[in-house]
Amino acid sequence: MSVHRTLLTILAMSLAGAFGAAAQETPAAPPVVVDAARGLPEWDKVYAVFTHPRCASCHVEDNRPRWSGAHYGGTRVHGFNVQGGSDGSGFGNPGLRCNTCHFESNSSVLHGPPGVVGWHLAPPEMVWWEKSSAEICAQIKDPARNGGRTLAEIAVHVRDDELVGWGWAPGPGREPAPGSAEATYEALTRWSESGAPCPSG
Ligand code: HEC
Ligand code: HEC
Repeated sequence: MSVHRTLLTILAMSLAGAFGAAAQETPAAPPVVVDAARGLPEWDKVYAVFTHPRCASCHVEDNRPRWSGAHYGGTRVHGFNVQGGSDGSGFGNPGLRCNTCHFESNSSVLHGPPGVVGWHLAPPEMVWWEKSSAEICAQIKDPARNGGRTLAEIAVHVRDDELVGWGWAPGPGREPAPGSAEATYEALTRWSESGAPCPSG
Protein backbone atom coordinates (compact mmCIF):
# COMPACT_ATOMS: atom_id res chain seq x y z
CA MET A 1 0.00 0.00 0.00
CA SER A 2 2.63 2.49 1.09
CA VAL A 3 4.84 1.37 -1.84
CA HIS A 4 1.87 2.03 -4.13
CA ARG A 5 1.38 5.45 -2.60
CA THR A 6 5.04 6.26 -3.03
CA LEU A 7 4.98 5.18 -6.67
CA LEU A 8 1.81 7.14 -7.30
CA THR A 9 3.34 10.17 -5.63
CA ILE A 10 6.49 9.89 -7.75
CA LEU A 11 4.35 9.45 -10.86
CA ALA A 12 2.23 12.49 -9.91
CA MET A 13 5.31 14.55 -9.19
CA SER A 14 7.02 13.71 -12.47
CA LEU A 15 3.81 14.42 -14.38
CA ALA A 16 3.50 17.74 -12.60
CA GLY A 17 7.15 18.37 -13.41
CA ALA A 18 6.58 17.63 -17.07
CA PHE A 19 3.57 19.93 -17.24
CA GLY A 20 5.40 22.54 -15.21
CA ALA A 21 8.31 22.49 -17.66
CA ALA A 22 5.92 22.75 -20.60
CA ALA A 23 4.14 25.65 -18.95
CA GLN A 24 7.42 27.50 -18.50
CA GLU A 25 8.15 27.37 -22.22
CA THR A 26 4.95 29.17 -23.17
CA PRO A 27 3.78 32.43 -21.56
CA ALA A 28 1.10 32.14 -18.88
CA ALA A 29 -2.34 31.88 -20.49
CA PRO A 30 -4.50 34.99 -20.07
CA PRO A 31 -7.67 34.48 -18.02
CA VAL A 32 -9.84 35.14 -21.08
CA VAL A 33 -9.11 34.83 -24.76
CA VAL A 34 -8.19 38.27 -26.07
CA ASP A 35 -10.59 39.32 -28.80
CA ALA A 36 -8.93 42.44 -30.22
CA ALA A 37 -11.47 42.85 -33.03
CA ARG A 38 -14.25 43.16 -30.46
CA GLY A 39 -12.28 44.90 -27.71
CA LEU A 40 -10.33 47.63 -29.51
CA PRO A 41 -13.39 49.56 -30.81
CA GLU A 42 -14.70 49.60 -27.20
CA TRP A 43 -11.33 50.87 -25.95
CA ASP A 44 -11.42 53.64 -28.60
CA LYS A 45 -14.66 54.94 -27.04
CA VAL A 46 -13.08 54.92 -23.58
CA TYR A 47 -9.96 56.70 -24.86
CA ALA A 48 -12.09 59.43 -26.48
CA VAL A 49 -13.69 60.07 -23.07
CA PHE A 50 -10.51 59.89 -20.95
CA THR A 51 -8.64 62.35 -23.19
CA HIS A 52 -11.53 64.79 -23.48
CA PRO A 53 -10.69 68.07 -21.67
CA ARG A 54 -13.56 67.54 -19.16
CA CYS A 55 -11.61 64.51 -17.89
CA ALA A 56 -7.97 65.14 -18.85
CA SER A 57 -7.92 68.71 -17.40
CA CYS A 58 -7.83 67.01 -13.95
CA HIS A 59 -5.67 64.00 -14.97
CA VAL A 60 -2.28 65.70 -15.38
CA GLU A 61 1.22 64.72 -14.30
CA ASP A 62 2.61 68.17 -13.40
CA ASN A 63 0.22 68.92 -10.55
CA ARG A 64 -1.40 71.80 -12.48
CA PRO A 65 -4.98 71.40 -13.73
CA ARG A 66 -5.74 72.74 -17.21
CA TRP A 67 -8.31 75.11 -18.61
CA SER A 68 -9.29 73.82 -22.01
CA GLY A 69 -12.06 74.61 -24.45
CA ALA A 70 -13.55 77.19 -26.76
CA HIS A 71 -14.61 79.64 -24.06
CA TYR A 72 -11.06 79.72 -22.65
CA GLY A 73 -9.76 80.70 -26.10
CA GLY A 74 -7.66 77.53 -26.27
CA THR A 75 -5.81 75.49 -23.70
CA ARG A 76 -3.79 76.81 -20.81
CA VAL A 77 -2.59 76.01 -17.36
CA HIS A 78 -5.20 76.81 -14.67
CA GLY A 79 -4.98 80.45 -13.56
CA PHE A 80 -4.10 81.75 -10.07
CA ASN A 81 -1.03 79.45 -9.87
CA VAL A 82 -3.35 76.65 -8.74
CA GLN A 83 -1.57 73.38 -7.93
CA GLY A 84 -2.63 69.97 -6.63
CA GLY A 85 -0.93 70.79 -3.34
CA SER A 86 2.44 70.53 -1.63
CA ASP A 87 0.91 67.94 0.73
CA GLY A 88 0.17 65.64 -2.25
CA SER A 89 -3.55 65.61 -1.45
CA GLY A 90 -4.81 67.03 -4.76
CA PHE A 91 -6.98 69.48 -2.78
CA GLY A 92 -4.65 72.43 -3.42
CA ASN A 93 -1.91 74.26 -1.59
CA PRO A 94 -2.68 75.33 1.98
CA GLY A 95 -4.28 78.75 1.70
CA LEU A 96 -5.52 78.11 -1.84
CA ARG A 97 -7.54 74.91 -1.67
CA CYS A 98 -9.75 73.97 -4.61
CA ASN A 99 -12.84 74.55 -2.48
CA THR A 100 -11.88 78.18 -1.95
CA CYS A 101 -13.43 78.68 -5.40
CA HIS A 102 -15.02 75.35 -6.41
CA PHE A 103 -18.25 74.67 -4.54
CA GLU A 104 -20.65 71.72 -4.50
CA SER A 105 -22.39 72.71 -7.74
CA ASN A 106 -21.51 74.54 -10.93
CA SER A 107 -21.47 78.31 -11.05
CA SER A 108 -24.35 79.39 -13.28
CA VAL A 109 -22.30 82.07 -15.06
CA LEU A 110 -19.86 81.71 -17.93
CA HIS A 111 -16.27 81.66 -16.54
CA GLY A 112 -17.55 80.98 -13.03
CA PRO A 113 -15.94 77.99 -11.28
CA PRO A 114 -17.61 74.62 -11.88
CA GLY A 115 -18.08 72.27 -8.94
CA VAL A 116 -19.25 69.06 -7.30
CA VAL A 117 -18.62 67.69 -3.80
CA GLY A 118 -14.96 66.81 -3.21
CA TRP A 119 -13.42 68.72 -6.12
CA HIS A 120 -9.68 67.87 -6.33
CA LEU A 121 -6.91 66.90 -8.72
CA ALA A 122 -6.17 63.28 -9.70
CA PRO A 123 -2.79 61.89 -8.52
CA PRO A 124 0.04 62.29 -11.07
CA GLU A 125 0.33 58.57 -11.87
CA MET A 126 -3.24 58.70 -13.29
CA VAL A 127 -2.05 60.96 -16.10
CA TRP A 128 -4.09 61.16 -19.33
CA TRP A 129 -3.28 64.70 -20.46
CA GLU A 130 -1.60 64.41 -23.93
CA LYS A 131 -0.95 60.67 -23.45
CA SER A 132 -1.36 58.17 -26.28
CA SER A 133 -4.02 55.49 -26.43
CA ALA A 134 -1.41 52.77 -25.72
CA GLU A 135 -0.03 54.71 -22.74
CA ILE A 136 -3.42 55.27 -21.10
CA CYS A 137 -4.46 51.67 -21.82
CA ALA A 138 -1.34 50.40 -19.97
CA GLN A 139 -1.92 52.84 -17.07
CA ILE A 140 -5.55 51.96 -16.53
CA LYS A 141 -4.68 48.22 -16.31
CA ASP A 142 -1.83 48.78 -13.82
CA PRO A 143 -3.01 48.53 -10.17
CA ALA A 144 0.13 50.45 -9.10
CA ARG A 145 -1.11 53.44 -11.12
CA ASN A 146 -4.91 53.14 -11.07
CA GLY A 147 -5.61 53.32 -7.34
CA GLY A 148 -5.38 49.52 -6.87
CA ARG A 149 -8.58 48.87 -8.83
CA THR A 150 -9.70 45.88 -10.85
CA LEU A 151 -11.12 46.67 -14.31
CA ALA A 152 -14.61 46.02 -12.95
CA GLU A 153 -13.95 48.60 -10.21
CA ILE A 154 -12.69 51.10 -12.80
CA ALA A 155 -15.95 50.69 -14.74
CA VAL A 156 -18.05 51.21 -11.59
CA HIS A 157 -15.97 54.27 -10.64
CA VAL A 158 -16.70 55.77 -14.05
CA ARG A 159 -20.43 55.03 -13.72
CA ASP A 160 -20.88 56.25 -10.12
CA ASP A 161 -18.18 58.76 -9.07
CA GLU A 162 -19.31 62.40 -8.73
CA LEU A 163 -16.13 63.99 -10.10
CA VAL A 164 -16.41 61.73 -13.16
CA GLY A 165 -20.12 62.50 -13.53
CA TRP A 166 -19.31 66.22 -13.66
CA GLY A 167 -17.62 65.57 -17.05
CA TRP A 168 -21.09 65.10 -18.57
CA ALA A 169 -22.69 68.04 -16.72
CA PRO A 170 -19.89 70.64 -16.71
CA GLY A 171 -21.89 73.86 -16.58
CA PRO A 172 -22.22 76.83 -18.93
CA GLY A 173 -19.87 77.15 -21.90
CA ARG A 174 -18.06 73.85 -21.41
CA GLU A 175 -18.48 71.01 -23.90
CA PRO A 176 -19.43 67.76 -22.11
CA ALA A 177 -17.37 64.58 -22.54
CA PRO A 178 -18.63 62.31 -25.38
CA GLY A 179 -21.44 59.83 -24.70
CA SER A 180 -22.51 59.29 -21.11
CA ALA A 181 -21.26 57.73 -17.86
CA GLU A 182 -23.47 54.69 -18.48
CA ALA A 183 -22.24 54.25 -22.09
CA THR A 184 -18.61 54.53 -20.92
CA TYR A 185 -19.29 51.98 -18.17
CA GLU A 186 -20.68 49.61 -20.81
CA ALA A 187 -17.74 50.19 -23.17
CA LEU A 188 -15.28 49.48 -20.33
CA THR A 189 -17.17 46.32 -19.41
CA ARG A 190 -17.24 44.99 -22.99
CA TRP A 191 -13.54 45.89 -23.42
CA SER A 192 -12.68 44.02 -20.23
CA GLU A 193 -14.78 40.98 -21.28
CA SER A 194 -12.84 40.98 -24.58
CA GLY A 195 -9.59 40.49 -22.66
CA ALA A 196 -8.81 44.23 -22.35
CA PRO A 197 -6.67 44.53 -25.51
CA CYS A 198 -4.43 47.58 -25.84
CA PRO A 199 -3.48 49.22 -29.15
CA SER A 200 0.17 48.79 -30.15
CA GLY A 201 2.59 51.71 -30.24
C1 HEC B 1 -8.82 81.09 -7.05
C2 HEC B 1 -9.97 80.30 -7.43
C3 HEC B 1 -9.72 78.87 -7.88
C4 HEC B 1 -9.03 77.88 -7.20
C5 HEC B 1 -8.31 77.95 -5.88
C6 HEC B 1 -9.14 76.70 -8.03
N1 HEC B 1 -9.88 76.96 -9.15
FE1 HEC B 1 -10.29 75.69 -10.68
N2 HEC B 1 -11.33 77.13 -11.66
C7 HEC B 1 -11.53 78.42 -11.19
C8 HEC B 1 -12.35 79.15 -12.15
C9 HEC B 1 -12.83 80.60 -12.01
C10 HEC B 1 -12.62 78.26 -13.21
C11 HEC B 1 -13.42 78.55 -14.47
C12 HEC B 1 -12.61 79.40 -15.40
C13 HEC B 1 -13.37 79.73 -16.68
O1 HEC B 1 -14.37 79.08 -17.00
O2 HEC B 1 -12.90 80.65 -17.39
C14 HEC B 1 -11.96 77.00 -12.86
C15 HEC B 1 -12.02 75.87 -13.67
C16 HEC B 1 -11.44 74.65 -13.34
C17 HEC B 1 -11.54 73.46 -14.13
C18 HEC B 1 -12.28 73.29 -15.44
C19 HEC B 1 -11.31 73.12 -16.55
C20 HEC B 1 -11.92 72.66 -17.84
O3 HEC B 1 -11.16 72.44 -18.78
O4 HEC B 1 -13.13 72.55 -17.94
C21 HEC B 1 -10.84 72.48 -13.47
C22 HEC B 1 -10.63 71.04 -13.89
C23 HEC B 1 -10.33 73.06 -12.26
N3 HEC B 1 -10.70 74.40 -12.20
C24 HEC B 1 -9.61 72.37 -11.32
C25 HEC B 1 -9.16 72.91 -10.12
C26 HEC B 1 -8.50 72.14 -9.08
C27 HEC B 1 -8.23 70.66 -9.17
C28 HEC B 1 -8.21 73.00 -8.06
C29 HEC B 1 -7.45 72.72 -6.78
C30 HEC B 1 -6.20 71.98 -6.92
C31 HEC B 1 -8.71 74.31 -8.46
N4 HEC B 1 -9.29 74.22 -9.70
C32 HEC B 1 -8.59 75.46 -7.70
C33 HEC B 1 -11.04 78.93 -10.03
C34 HEC B 1 -10.26 78.27 -9.10
C1 HEC C 1 -12.14 67.69 -10.69
C2 HEC C 1 -11.13 66.75 -11.09
C3 HEC C 1 -11.50 65.52 -11.86
C4 HEC C 1 -12.22 65.44 -13.03
C5 HEC C 1 -12.89 66.56 -13.77
C6 HEC C 1 -12.19 64.05 -13.42
N1 HEC C 1 -11.48 63.30 -12.53
FE1 HEC C 1 -11.13 61.30 -12.61
N2 HEC C 1 -10.12 61.38 -10.85
C7 HEC C 1 -9.98 62.51 -10.08
C8 HEC C 1 -9.38 62.14 -8.80
C9 HEC C 1 -9.09 63.07 -7.64
C10 HEC C 1 -9.14 60.75 -8.85
C11 HEC C 1 -8.54 59.85 -7.78
C12 HEC C 1 -9.66 59.33 -6.94
C13 HEC C 1 -9.40 57.98 -6.34
O1 HEC C 1 -8.44 57.28 -6.71
O2 HEC C 1 -10.23 57.57 -5.51
C14 HEC C 1 -9.62 60.31 -10.15
C15 HEC C 1 -9.60 59.00 -10.57
C16 HEC C 1 -10.23 58.52 -11.70
C17 HEC C 1 -10.26 57.13 -12.10
C18 HEC C 1 -9.57 56.00 -11.35
C19 HEC C 1 -8.54 55.25 -12.13
C20 HEC C 1 -7.44 55.98 -12.84
O3 HEC C 1 -6.47 55.31 -13.20
O4 HEC C 1 -7.52 57.20 -13.11
C21 HEC C 1 -11.00 57.06 -13.24
C22 HEC C 1 -11.31 55.83 -14.07
C23 HEC C 1 -11.45 58.41 -13.54
N3 HEC C 1 -10.95 59.28 -12.60
C24 HEC C 1 -12.25 58.74 -14.63
C25 HEC C 1 -12.59 60.05 -14.99
C26 HEC C 1 -13.39 60.39 -16.16
C27 HEC C 1 -13.92 59.37 -17.16
C28 HEC C 1 -13.56 61.73 -16.14
C29 HEC C 1 -14.34 62.59 -17.11
C30 HEC C 1 -15.67 62.17 -17.53
C31 HEC C 1 -12.87 62.24 -14.95
N4 HEC C 1 -12.29 61.19 -14.29
C32 HEC C 1 -12.80 63.58 -14.58
C33 HEC C 1 -10.32 63.80 -10.41
C34 HEC C 1 -11.05 64.15 -11.54
